[in-house]
Amino acid sequence: MNDAEALKKIAGEAACEFVKTGMRVGLGTGSTVKYTVLELGRRIAEEGLEIVGVPTSIATQELASEVGIPLVQLGSLDGLDIVIDGTDEFDPSFQLIKGGGAALLREKIVAQQSAAMVVVADERKQVDCLGAFGIPIEITPFACDVTVSVLASLLNCQVELRMSESKHILTDNGNCIADARIGPTITDPVATEASILNVAGVVQVGLFNNMCDAIVLATTDGVTTLMKPNGRL
Ligand code: 5RP
Repeated sequence: MNDAEALKKIAGEAACEFVKTGMRVGLGTGSTVKYTVLELGRRIAEEGLEIVGVPTSIATQELASEVGIPLVQLGSLDGLDIVIDGTDEFDPSFQLIKGGGAALLREKIVAQQSAAMVVVADERKQVDCLGAFGIPIEITPFACDVTVSVLASLLNCQVELRMSESKHILTDNGNCIADARIGPTITDPVATEASILNVAGVVQVGLFNNMCDAIVLATTDGVTTLMKPNGRL
């Protein structure tokens, strides 16, 4: 395991501290939160932890099933106690860019139903100003090239559809996904989110504002948990 992978593992496992028996847990998507899912599976098998999970992607659903986490439909519950998820960037105000793994729509639906959100990250994800990663945007396949042009004009930057072998990459929801190469310039992520959501054809945008309550951050010096002042945890 290389250093970057080791940091992901440390952060992913440490976040399990927030999970107690009886909780309804949103299970995020990505290579960091994968370690959270694995650790929760271990605790269920070895320590008798009792939880139910709601996965945010087909990939997480498959992994969680493999490791024995009981899964339920979001609609069968009256909300979730917590969601643990990864991020592509976080800023000093705990605002996030997510969707590098194209799971942003389900991730945001689950996050909105959760009483608290814990993010797992390594130090590469910490930024002063959001945007270097690019903003993932899920858009309808219908006229996706037109929607991309509108977004490029609106944001005054390149917006690129994610492609694989000359075909649009589709999300778990059957939509296209694009990345807005805006650069580290997002000083008002709430306004940027609203303006992108206002474009017809946009299904959801990977700006997660005012959702994250804690960040379990792995650095080469160890793991620390950053708690949002006046957050929900
Ligand atoms: C998927 C996401 C991921 O949480 C995000 O891309 C971080 O992934 P990783 O932990 O693999 O870097 O938002 O849509």
